[in-house]
Amino acid sequence: MLVTIEGIDGTGKSTLLLALKERLSDLDAVFTREPGATWVGESVRRAIAEQIDPITEATLFVADHAAHLATVVRPALAEGKLVISDRYSDSRFAYQSVTLAGVIPNPEGWLRAMHNGWSIVPDKTILLVIPVDDALARLATKSGREHFERREILEKVQNRYLEFARAEPNRFVIVDALKEKDEIAGFVADAIRQIVTNGQKHTKK
Ligand code: TYD
Repeated sequence: MLVTIEGIDGTGKSTLLLALKERLSDLDAVFTREPGATWVGESVRRAIAEQIDPITEATLFVADHAAHLATVVRPALAEGKLVISDRYSDSRFAYQSVTLAGVIPNPEGWLRAMHNGWSIVPDKTILLVIPVDDALARLATKSGREHFERREILEKVQNRYLEFARAEPNRFVIVDALKEKDEIAGFVADAIRQIVTNGQKHTKK
């Protein structure tokens, strides 16, 4: 089972991930992330920091995804493990379709085509949603902002995410990121347990 956690910057993903590690410790899940689960992630971080051209940046994110699948995700799934990834392909489809708008003709189509045939679609995607003003207020306390963390970008990125959720309502679980952090962690942990139970029922049939 592959569960991904998505949302714009400032939704509290990192806090949620820490809480899930504790709450789901009995499940022996593999917690992982994009970018940066492998050394390829270092070039991605450098590309983000240097604000390199958006095509270079996008292709590095895809390269990081390929390395992540090859070295972490596929081996763990092959062992029957639950994999929980902090960001995954929907981050590309949401962020890079915004950063590549006006740069190439059909960014989302191009990005999806780059993943087709080898990437693995998540079984479930938890999408944290927050008013952009609240996300920005949370980010204001953080040092070293990334170039994605601007209102115009985050608004568009969150709209993309919401479109994806509308298009695939069975895969996405939308979570109100303004709720109290223990409530969010409890809700998401229960949702993941449910996914695991349902998955086991399927494989037993
Ligand atoms: P992340 O490591 O989640 O952020 P943080 O450093 O705040 O923990 O991701 C770094 C940034 O990269 C974040 O703004 C989202 C962006 N991103 C993309 O634009 N495309 C992608 O495919 C991924 C995985 C992340």
